[in-house]
Formats: sequence, C-alpha cells, structure tokens
Amino acid sequence: MSPTDGLTATAVPPSDAPTTPAVATEEVVVLDFGGQYSQLIARRVRECGVFSELLPHHVAIEEVRRRRPCGVILSGGPASVYEPGAPRLRRELLELGVPVLGICYGMQLLARELGGRVEGAEVGEFGRSQLTVRDHGRLLRGTPSEQTCWMSHRDTVFAPPPGFTALASSTASPVAAFESVERGIYGIQFHPEVVHTPYGQQVLTTFLREVCGCERTWTPVSVIDEQVAAIREQIGGGRAICGLSGGVDSSVAALLVHRAIGARLTCVFVDHGFMRKDEGAQVIAAFRDHFHVPLVAVDASERFLARLRGVTDPEEKRKRIGAEFIRVFEEEARKLGERDGEIGYLVQGTLYSDVIESGGGTGAATIKSHHNVGGLPDDLRFELVEPLRSLFKDEVRAVGAELGLPERLVWRQPFPGPGLAIRIVGGEATRERLQILREADAILQDEIRRAGLYRELWQSFCVLPDIRSVGVQGDARTYGNVIVIRAVTSDDAMTADWARLPYDLLEQIASRMISEIRPVGRVVLDITSKPPGTIEWE
Ligand code: XMP
Repeated sequence: MSPTDGLTATAVPPSDAPTTPAVATEEVVVLDFGGQYSQLIARRVRECGVFSELLPHHVAIEEVRRRRPCGVILSGGPASVYEPGAPRLRRELLELGVPVLGICYGMQLLARELGGRVEGAEVGEFGRSQLTVRDHGRLLRGTPSEQTCWMSHRDTVFAPPPGFTALASSTASPVAAFESVERGIYGIQFHPEVVHTPYGQQVLTTFLREVCGCERTWTPVSVIDEQVAAIREQIGGGRAICGLSGGVDSSVAALLVHRAIGARLTCVFVDHGFMRKDEGAQVIAAFRDHFHVPLVAVDASERFLARLRGVTDPEEKRKRIGAEFIRVFEEEARKLGERDGEIGYLVQGTLYSDVIESGGGTGAATIKSHHNVGGLPDDLRFELVEPLRSLFKDEVRAVGAELGLPERLVWRQPFPGPGLAIRIVGGEATRERLQILREADAILQDEIRRAGLYRELWQSFCVLPDIRSVGVQGDARTYGNVIVIRAVTSDDAMTADWARLPYDLLEQIASRMISEIRPVGRVVLDITSKPPGTIEWE
C-alpha cells in the first residue's frame, strides 16, 4: 500500500479488466474451491514456466475456454463433496479436451462425480503424512516409492472411479492418488504446492510437461512486451499520471507505462517529510535522471508537519496524512492538466494478490482502496491503468530488475504510506523526532545490508516511542530517547516472526545509534511475533 492507494476511491476502473490480454499465452487455469493454498498452486505453476491464474470454481465455462488453457487444476476446499450445496464439478470442464488435475477436494469431486467412493474418515489427516506409491503411473513417475507429503483433509477417497488406476495410499487415505491416462484425468489427495511435500513441484512439473505438453517458456519478464502493447491500446494518444511512492509496485508500473507512452506519462512524487534517509533523492535520481521520466517532485513536508501538529493518535495521523496527500496530488494533477492538456489515466501498481483478494481475476473491477483516504474530488476522474494486475510481488521485482530499476528500489522492503510518522508512537511527529528516527533507521539499514541480511527480512525498521529513559554517559546522567529495533521475517505480512538477528550485529547497531545520535540513550529489541503483535507498532 502507499498513500496513493486512496486516489482510486473515485477513479473509474476499466469496465472489464481481465488480468490477461487476449493473446495466446500458454496457460493453466486453477479453479478455486476455497482452499487455503489455492493461490500457491498458481504460483507454483508459474514457477514451472507456465502462466496460471486462479478463477472462482463457478466461473463461466466460456471464460475458461476463452483462455484456451493447456490444463485445468481443481484446488482444495473446505466443503464435503456429499453435503447439499457443496460446490459441484461441471462436466463441461472434463469436455474441454485438456487434462484435469484435482487436488484434495478437487480429487474428491472427480472421484464422486465419476463413480468412485468418497466418505468421511474416522480420523482426518492433517500435516505431514507418509505416501506409499504402489504404481507410479504417469503422474508420479520419477518420485520415490516412499515419500513425505502434506495432507489437510477429513473426507477420503476409498475407491477410485471405474477405469481409474489407484497409484498411492497414505496412513489415512486408501487412495491418495489416481489417474486415467486415457481420459486425461488425475487426482492427488496431498498438496503438491506446499514446501512440506518435497516431490510436489516434481509432480506438478510432470503434470504440466508430460501430461499437458506445456513448453514452459513463460517468465514474469515475458509480460513486459504484452503489457506495453496492452497499455498502448488502452491509453491510445492520451495522457497518464502516476503517484510514485518509492515502492517497487508503483515504480515498476510507472516504468512499464513510460515504456509504452513515453513522455505522455508524468509521475508525481510527493515528499511528505516522513520518508527515510535519502529515499526521496533516490527516487528522483532513478526516474528523472536515469530513466528520463517526466517527474514532478513536490516537497510538501512543511504542509504535512503543520497538519500533524499536536496530533498523537495514530489513526488521526493516518487520516490527516491521507487527506493532505490527496490534496497535494490533486493540485499537481490540475496544474499538469492546465499545462499539458487533459490527463485521462491514473497508473496504479495493483498486484495479482490485490485482484484475488477482491474477488478473483474474472474481470471484477478492482480498486486498491485505502480506508483512511477519502478519494479524489468528483471532477477529477481517471481511468485506471494497472499493468501489474497479473503478477505476484516477486514477479514484479523480476520485471523491475529487467527494466533496469536500481537494486535498492527493486528490493525495497515494504514501507507504510504514512511513513515514519506512524513509527513515532504515543507522541507528536515533530521535525526533531523524525530526524532522530530517520538517523536510527539509516544505521539499522546500513548494518543489516552490510551483514547481507536485508533481503532475508520482510521488514526491518525502528520505532521511537514517546518516552525517555535514564542513562549515564561519561560522568553525566542522561535522559535520552529510546529506539526500538523491529525486524521480522514473513511471506505475506499476514503472519510474521521476529528475526533472530545475530547478537554481534545487534550490539554494533546499538552502539552506533547511541554514539552517533546524541539524543538516543537506549536501544531495545522487539521480540513479538504476529500474531499476537502486529508488524508496525501503532
Ligand atoms: P501490520 O502492522 O498490520 O502491517 O502487521 C502489515 C503490513 O502493512 C504495512 N502497513 C501499511 N502499509 N499504509 C501502508 O501502505 C499503512 O497505513 C500501513 N500500515 C501498515 C506494514 O508495514 C506491514 O508490511
């Protein structure tokens, strides 16, 4: 998220916005029956070099056909196949003429619909399980006869459909894998997409390569040309604006649009004064000096500081920063419109995970909204341009690297839109406090980079609580500020673990902060995971 997220609240999304352009890309469709790992299946398929998207299980068959997939995967899900109202298998899916792989619930659906036997088992099977392969068939070829896999189910397949071969069993699943090579239908009870199934990726690769006959040439970078063409088609001869936050999403989106329409894109970088050390300068250097993207950089720190005077409540801080951001952006957009002609398009770094969260990739309009921000005024309406709608975060980084985005921007850890202001906790975000926090943060980042740990951490930052603590330096008593070090590992920010930074590194960080930043008298480490804590402090 960035402060620009809220800009779309009144923006006009394109009427129908599929994530994939209608060009022939080798694709495997994953139908989502509500399983917790469904998104991961699409990611793993992409890692095998085949483009893949998650569609709701009830998506129109025409939409599946339109994509001309080379295979279909049915995901897991929480329902029981024999319960009334449980999602069913539509026979048309088996008549598309492409192989189908059912995973967990997907396998149970195939079993039930095609005449096999599925029942609730006495005991469910959750977590690591031992898979015994009796007949490797086509799907399990090349994997060991005994292997570990990850299970998460209560219902179980007791007999495969007539004409199918049972390939494997596990402790609690008499039929843990089956196939009918003639019909092109395959089922596995275990989850190949999770890392706890060591041969999972191999099984998926076999399905894609041997069964579906995929060439596996897709890479995130291959979307560049497609997207540039799609952006040209959408914007035509129009003009676009993009709010740069310094984060990788808006940066990569801006670069793609710049490649497509050149100087008809203008980027606006609003420095609200809550950025980290040298961050604004890096963004300006990359975009204006290196890529020659028309860039308006607004130093609005005085305005933002004035809006935060006397404000200590974090929600209030967020609200005011969001509202002020919209105001500044709006002023700049109007000025640009008056100077260069009307701007019809707003570029946004919406990612595939945002699309999925808001209802799937079936063309549902997605608006990355920020609940804190009110949106643009009614007379300032844009059509959205979202060139990253089909990409996961790590894929966006790959595209950014390919486009020549500097390493620092490609790998930048997530940073909240309201910036350092919400890391001053319990007190007002004054210029002096921001300076202390900015310096402490710079030392932390510097040391973490030197230790080679920056990319391993989801986030690493400092917090400045509004308290003082007594100390002694030289012969004098001090009453200094306290800096909190927060460093976490995470995959998606939904959960996080506090990072076990080496003691020597922590010592180096703490002693530098105390000796280099006069007002700092004490450094502490946050050892709370999420849950129960959040990543940020406020
Ligand atoms: P929490 O603190 O809820 O944060 O565990 C989860 C992730 O969201 C980021 N975050 C924000 N990002 N605007 C943003 O753009 C915000 O107001 C904001 N608040 C939290 C946080 O840094 C973490 O990555």
